[in-house]
Amino acid sequence: MPKLSINDLDLHDKRVFVRVDYNVPMEEIDGQMVINDATRIKETLPTLERLIAAGARIILAAHLGRPKGQREASMSLRPVADLLSKLIDRPVAFVDDCIGDKVERATSALKNGDLLLLENVRFHNEEEANDPIFAVKLASVADVYVNDAFGAAHRAHASTEGVARVISQRGGLCAAGLLMERELKFLGEELENPARPFVVILGGAKVSDKILVIDRLLEKADTILIGGAMAYTFRLADGRKVGKSLVEPDKVEVARACVAKAKQRGVQFLIPTDNIVATPVDSGKLNKKGRPIFDLQHPRVNSSSDISDSEEGLDIGPVTAARFSEVIRNAKTILWNGPMGMFEDKRFGEGTNVVAQSVVEATQKNGAKSIIGGGDSVKAINKAGLGDRVTFMSTGGGASLEFLEGNVLPGVAVLTDK
Ligand code: 3PG
Repeated sequence: MPKLSINDLDLHDKRVFVRVDYNVPMEEIDGQMVINDATRIKETLPTLERLIAAGARIILAAHLGRPKGQREASMSLRPVADLLSKLIDRPVAFVDDCIGDKVERATSALKNGDLLLLENVRFHNEEEANDPIFAVKLASVADVYVNDAFGAAHRAHASTEGVARVISQRGGLCAAGLLMERELKFLGEELENPARPFVVILGGAKVSDKILVIDRLLEKADTILIGGAMAYTFRLADGRKVGKSLVEPDKVEVARACVAKAKQRGVQFLIPTDNIVATPVDSGKLNKKGRPIFDLQHPRVNSSSDISDSEEGLDIGPVTAARFSEVIRNAKTILWNGPMGMFEDKRFGEGTNVVAQSVVEATQKNGAKSIIGGGDSVKAINKAGLGDRVTFMSTGGGASLEFLEGNVLPGVAVLTDK
């Protein structure tokens, strides 16, 4: 059932509680938290501009990190308010809590078109517990609920679900923001009846993270291309040697079942035939989590389908990259989720780059619709400077995967039906 959109509402003079996903990557530089990637903030600007033009009083709520109910200075949303103000070119008020007297005072001072950002909702344990009393407190300052936080819509938390329930019960309306609408359109409707050939490219570390997505897409895709470390589990399932590559031996049966289902449905299912491998050598150092750091020495092309005992597969090889590229360039619909290798290290980034370039070529020259399903593949395409040359890039991580699996997201389900 389609959901109400902010375009369907008269928001003049209304106090609108807008849940956004401002869970952005930050790092501390000289004692200050600095935002590394503002994509999620920028992507909400069309919604905010529409609300401002409509004369709404805008109350923004979001989470940042996983502070587990504690006030963590490094997880404050204050730097987000400053950056949002610059991006939207108008003041953004900030209040250092998300419920209580201060919030009531700040919201009652809002005039039509004003913006207020509340502090990290996860500073309260009740947020993740979807506590009904907390949801009533959040809802007490609002007439209308808008969810523009696709990236957090798989969470049934107070600010993504509970507050909407309270507002609906009061007879108020709950609508999707423009970013939410775009996410649902591209990851949902556009993939229901895709122009063909429909090529799905899946990568990343684990088969277990993507298995439900593969299973569902086997119903729709013409070709599925598998890269990233998860390809080694498929290799293992094929009776090949994988050396020190990252694998999930307990998922071998699952991998075999995928291949069998692909065969039965006539879906072309390609796994890499060559790789870039390197020899991991213990550096004697530990990472932040106390785990040993390995230097990846002697990178080389391995043209065999087997990997030697001392080596690890870290990227798809040139033959595989060329084969994948040919398939992608002929596609009319492309869905890409997950890099082909350890692209953060440029010695193992070529496979991901070739895929990114091929996706762009299919989009620009073949008129393909290219949908980048969130997470690391978005990082990779941005790193290659190609972010504006694909049809759509999702702002979701876990939410995109859950939605592609065919799940109903709680933050969407709770919105008012059209
Ligand atoms: C994300 O970054 O994927 C979303 O903001 C959800 O964050 P979470 O996994 O901490 O709930």
